[in-house]
Amino acid sequence: MVMKIGIGLLGLGTVGTGVARILLEPKGRNPLVSNVHIAKVAVRDLNRPRKIELPSRLLTADAQSVVDDPNVQLVVEVMGGIEPARTLIMRSIAAGKSVVTANKAVIARHGQEIAAAAEAAGVYVLIEAAVGGGIPIIEPLKQSLGGNKITKVSGIINGTTNYILTRMEQEGVAYENVLKVAQDLGYAEADPAADVEGMDAADKISILSGLAFGGAINRELIQTQGISNLKSRDVDYATQLGYRVKLLGIAERLNDNLIESNSLPLAVWVQPTLVPFNHPLAGVNGVNNAILIEGEPIGEVMFYGPGAGSGPTASAVVADILNIAGIYQLGNLETKLDPLLAAHSWRECHLVDPVDIRKRNYVRFKAEDTPGVIGRIGTHFGDRGVSIQSIVQFDSSNEDAEIVVITHKVRQGELEESLKAIKQLPEIKGLASYMGCI
Ligand code: NAP
Ligand code: HSE
Repeated sequence: MVMKIGIGLLGLGTVGTGVARILLEPKGRNPLVSNVHIAKVAVRDLNRPRKIELPSRLLTADAQSVVDDPNVQLVVEVMGGIEPARTLIMRSIAAGKSVVTANKAVIARHGQEIAAAAEAAGVYVLIEAAVGGGIPIIEPLKQSLGGNKITKVSGIINGTTNYILTRMEQEGVAYENVLKVAQDLGYAEADPAADVEGMDAADKISILSGLAFGGAINRELIQTQGISNLKSRDVDYATQLGYRVKLLGIAERLNDNLIESNSLPLAVWVQPTLVPFNHPLAGVNGVNNAILIEGEPIGEVMFYGPGAGSGPTASAVVADILNIAGIYQLGNLETKLDPLLAAHSWRECHLVDPVDIRKRNYVRFKAEDTPGVIGRIGTHFGDRGVSIQSIVQFDSSNEDAEIVVITHKVRQGELEESLKAIKQLPEIKGLASYMGCI
């Protein structure tokens, strides 16, 4: 008889509830689901009403006791936050228990420490739910795309902001008014600033880059701009110019000729970005995410689906649980780890200085509506080698002139120098907006 694997569930919120629902209803699913059972569940507040009924003896407010419980063989961390989540993950590993986690904040910051400890202990830490919600992207990067030389990873990797941006574009509403809805739908982080300030997307692009390029990423060096300062009029102007605004995480490998050197240079950033209507990412709406991987020899491949929410995220968590359950069933846990499932770093990577990143840009100036102002803006850009693709003045009735510039691909150092100089022009009242453009 196959022994049922005891799951210690740390958290019974949006994701934990979704996981429990699947595990409690194994009928019609992969038979491995029947090989696991919920042994213990940690919550913060035992008195909080729950969306799922579980025997009260399973619930505890002492998360450490779940990790330490001898009936728990696999720990599923879906509580969020850095601490105590990190300590509980490390404690589980030290106890020889594999871990499944949806916690990108912990993995982006402490992934190396956790992976090293897991390798030493001979256990797995699987993170499919940490990026892209229900989209399978972690296992494909580790396994299915393993033969490729990945050149670029870019995508919409935050469901909350994509939901907000879609409604801003389609209904013209301000972002603050939609954020509450995204929270109610269970998409947002406990502190939604992580979503709207781009920090969650930065955690995710950090994790994806580490897997795609094979080396640890210094999360703190990722230049990050969120959507909290985005104005509806920028979304509107973008639409008039043939673009949608999407919050993108982008990671590019640079200097192919240096690949044989010790450390691979990468440009990694998060920014609201204009995406042409005909680009595959432009049609990704609502809570959906999409990740575009470019590599050799595959070319381009896009992963698309629901990027947040209870059911989709639980789908990814349970996939990892089943991976571990399958290994248990084979009785393989005492042997060496499968290197593709465990995904070790195999080289050094470093992030280049943000001023050296080369990309296209959207900038909007507020200016006095005087003759020659567009020419003077163009001259300042040109003097610093910033090539302009288009410069447009939008309807300025009753107000200052609104001048929108889209640049060609330029080094950010030169862009910044130009903006500094343009802001000194007497007719310029300010730089009202700055975004990327692909
Ligand atoms: P959530 O709804 O806030 O749930 C968190 C759960 O953890 C709650 O049940 C809470 O207990 C429990 N908890 C928190 N701190 C605890 C502590 N110190 N001791 C014991 N229990 C504790 O969060 P969520 O949306 O499910 O997200 C969980 C994790 O999944 C986060 O890392 C998040 O980034 C990640 N994630 C979320 C989504 C999504 O769509 N929501 C998608 C992908 C990944 P109480 O219920 O008693 O407060
Ligand atoms: N808050 C996250 C998002 C949850 O909106 O994408 C999924 O990781």
